[in-house]
Amino acid sequence: QRTAALIPAAGLGTRLGQGPKAFVTVGGLSLLARSVAALAPLVDEVVVALPDGYALHDLNLPGDVRAITGGATRQASVLALLQASEADVVLIHDAARPFLPPSVGEAVKAAAAQTGAATAALPVADTLVRQAGPNLWGQLTSREGLWAVQTPQGFRRELLLEAHRAAEKSGIQATDDAGLVARLGLPVALILGDARLFKVTTPGDLILAKALARLWDA
Ligand code: CTP
Ligand code: MG
Repeated sequence: QRTAALIPAAGLGTRLGQGPKAFVTVGGLSLLARSVAALAPLVDEVVVALPDGYALHDLNLPGDVRAITGGATRQASVLALLQASEADVVLIHDAARPFLPPSVGEAVKAAAAQTGAATAALPVADTLVRQAGPNLWGQLTSREGLWAVQTPQGFRRELLLEAHRAAEKSGIQATDDAGLVARLGLPVALILGDARLFKVTTPGDLILAKALARLWDA
């Protein structure tokens, strides 16, 4: 079975405010370079989706990595990546999650090959409340049985393509891929992720990433 890592990296990083996030560096390496380095040992090929007008050669990436131009949404970027690969099993991983423990990547890949769809996720640890209005405590929600979904997410490629086509047809836009598969009524395995897999989204996350890079690279 041929495997590919498909990395959506075409976002503009609006919330972080430092240009396209994939190119932002922590500890001297871009978020994208870190994600590629973590995934390359697990797969036969790596394909990344970049913003229009960006190229890989400014990135100093390890190994054999192909780039395509992404779309206007994450979902469109992933669809383009799926169409650019012929692998049997694909691992979709946000470039914005630069710290992927190898054991999590391996576990997601194995589960995806076996069951067709799997994602890294973490049981929610905080108390959850729905707001009654702006900044006002409303209905308490039990965290029992709730997971926060991360990436990588692994799929048989044909299965995820079908899920994307179905979503497109129904006008559904999602921020992740496992949800599109689950929409079709298919099972998605939850694989225990890792706190270090957090997504660099805000300036506060970048501070955490810079601190973690020192430990990670030590
Ligand atoms: N992504 C993508 N194509 C898009 C939008 C997002 O490939 N059109 C990628 C991002 O590069 C990132 C991942 O999807 O690796 C998760 O998206 P997000 O954290 O939302 O990143 P951005 O869209 O870049 O950030 P923002 O929403 O703050 O602009
Ligand atoms: Mg975004």
